Amino acid sequence: MKIGNLLLDGQVCTAPMAGITDKAFREILARQKPALIMTEMISDQALLYENEKTHFLADLTGENYPVGIQLCGSNPAYLADAARILAQKGACLIDINMGCPAPKIVKNGEGSQIMRHPALAAELVTAVKNAVSIPVTVKMRKGWSAEEENFLQVGKAVAKAGADAITLHGRYREQFYSGNADWESIARLVREVPVPVIGNGDIFSPQDAQKMLMETGCAGIMIGRGMLGNPWLVGDTVTFLQDGKMPENHRQQELFLTMRDHLQRHVQLWGEKKGIPQMRKHLAWYVKGLPKAAQFRQELNNQTSLQEVLILLANYEEELAKRRLHT
Ligand SMILES: Cc1cc2nc3c(=O)[nH]c(=O)nc-3n(C[C@H](O)[C@H](O)[C@H](O)COP(=O)(O)O)c2cc1C
Repeated sequence: MKIGNLLLDGQVCTAPMAGITDKAFREILARQKPALIMTEMISDQALLYENEKTHFLADLTGENYPVGIQLCGSNPAYLADAARILAQKGACLIDINMGCPAPKIVKNGEGSQIMRHPALAAELVTAVKNAVSIPVTVKMRKGWSAEEENFLQVGKAVAKAGADAITLHGRYREQFYSGNADWESIARLVREVPVPVIGNGDIFSPQDAQKMLMETGCAGIMIGRGMLGNPWLVGDTVTFLQDGKMPENHRQQELFLTMRDHLQRHVQLWGEKKGIPQMRKHLAWYVKGLPKAAQFRQELNNQTSLQEVLILLANYEEELAKRRLHT
C-alpha cells in the first residue's frame, strides 16, 4: 500500500487505541508484521506544554518498524507545531484524529466533533501538511449522527487539502461502538476520493479482512478490538491475504510466551506500580474463553508485583496443560 511517498509492505494496519497501543504492545504487534502500526492518540496541547507523560507516549526509540503517530487537536497552529515535534521522533506518518467519540474529547472541539466543521478539517490537514514532509492521514467516522452524515464531504475536503490517505470507521459518533460497522460507507468513500482509503470496523478474522477488501475496494484495512489479547489475528490476516491459507493455531502455541513477554515489556516501560494494574486488562483479554479464566482474573486482581503475576501465569499454564492431558 502506498500512502503519499511512503511505501508500506502489505495492507494490514493496527488501529490507534488509547491506553492500549503503547510501545510494549506495539513491540508485540510488530512481530506479526503488519504494514503499519499506530500509536494511541497524542494530544497536541499536552505535547506542546511539555507534558512528560505525553512525550513518553510519543517516544518511538528502538522501534524499527513503520509507526504512525496519531495527533488529537483542533487548532491548526498547535497541531502543526505538535506534528513537527512528532516527525522528529521518527514517525512514518502523522494521522489526525477526527473520529474519537469520547465526551471529554468532543467537548474540547476535538475528535469526531471536527467532522461537524468540514472547513476546519481541511484547515487542520493543510496546516500539518505544511509543517512536515512525511505523509499526513485522517481517521474519521461516518459523521456525527445519521442526521449529520457527511463523511463524503469531509473526505473530499481533507483529500483536497492534501491528506495522503483516509481511514474510515463505518460508524457515527453517536453510535460509539454499538451496532455493526457499515462497510458500504467505506466503498462509497473509495469511489469518491482520489487517495487510498483504509477500511476500519468489525474485523475479527482474516476472512473479515478479505471480505472488506473485496466488498469495498479499500487499499488497506485496520484492525482494532480484534487484536486485544489476540495479536496473532494481525499476523494471521497478513498471511491469509498473502497466500489464502489459514495459518496454524499460533495462539495456542504462543499464548503464555506472549503474555509473559508483553507483561515484562509493559512493566519495564511503566514500572510495577502503574504497569501491573494496567496489564490486568490485557491479560484478561488473552485468557478470554479459556477454562477457569474467571478465577485467573480474580486472582490477578490481588497481585501487585511482576514476580507474583509471573507465578500466577506459570500455575495457570500448568493447570491448563494438566487439563489437556486428562481430556
Ligand atoms: C479502547 C479503545 C481505544 C481507542 N482509542 C482510539 C484512539 O486513540 N484513536 C483513534 O483514532 N481511535 C481509537 N479507537 C477506535 C479504534 O481505532 C477503531 O477505530 C475502532 O475500535 C473500530 O475498529 P474495530 O472494530 O476493529 O475495533 C479506540 C477504540 C477502543 C475500543
